[in-house]
Amino acid sequence: MPYPLDPQQRTTWSRDGFVVLPRFVEDDLLNDLRKRINEIVATFANGDLPAGAATVFSTTEQTHAQDDWFLTSADVIRPFFEKGAFDVDGTLVVNMDRALNKLGHAMHDLDPVFNRFSRTPSLAGLAAELGFVEPLLVQSMVIFKPPHIGSEVVCHCDHTFLWTEPQSVVGFWFALDDATVDNGCMWAIPGGHRGGARTRFRREGSGTITDVLDPTPYDLSALVPIEASAGTCIAFHGCLPHWSGPNSSDRPRLAYTLHIIDGAAHYPEDNWLQRGPDLPLRGF
Ligand code: FE2
Repeated sequence: MPYPLDPQQRTTWSRDGFVVLPRFVEDDLLNDLRKRINEIVATFANGDLPAGAATVFSTTEQTHAQDDWFLTSADVIRPFFEKGAFDVDGTLVVNMDRALNKLGHAMHDLDPVFNRFSRTPSLAGLAAELGFVEPLLVQSMVIFKPPHIGSEVVCHCDHTFLWTEPQSVVGFWFALDDATVDNGCMWAIPGGHRGGARTRFRREGSGTITDVLDPTPYDLSALVPIEASAGTCIAFHGCLPHWSGPNSSDRPRLAYTLHIIDGAAHYPEDNWLQRGPDLPLRGF
């Protein structure tokens, strides 16, 4: 059953490339997800980190190891750390709640609480409303953006990273805390989705490369802030240019993102995100 977007929301979606849906998430689901994230963080804080994490994110030059950590994270639940979280010996030098940058990228398939949050009838209905015929849940992330630490995410669109032919990716950005300009809410260029993707990030050999399709820089002066209270869902087109600033406040800015693609579209073998045979992509 389609999630009922009202006529104004439909217009906003096609004109701007995004639509803001306050109070989209039910309170119990929101609380359950926050609790689950806290449990995962507590597990890490107790020293139970996935093998290799401390070494990969230690302050010695680990670019290649960090690339591998990322490129093999399509079908696991894996932490990514802020710069400087570990010293050269792999010892954590800040509190875990200041150390984590994000979790990725298959919580929605591997964790029952994330699965429940990501596969609601409302979200399935919204995907149908946005034109999805065979929606596949391809990627999930928890984005921590800790106070005074969470940094800028440069202006980009997600089709760059989750390429399909034709373009199909749509992102759902869920505010788990109130997101404001001060704590680094999402910003976007209304209507910018019509310009298509200007870059494509893909695998090449054992690493990655970014193809520049259009060198024109984004007009950053056209970005508008999208402040969102906890429980809000921002649905956004895969070609929508978006950005977020640093968290300069004393408040956390926890968010959860989920991306879907259409199974009818071609998913190239050189996309960075490749599932193994044990965890095929699934719909709602
Ligand atoms: Fe993004």
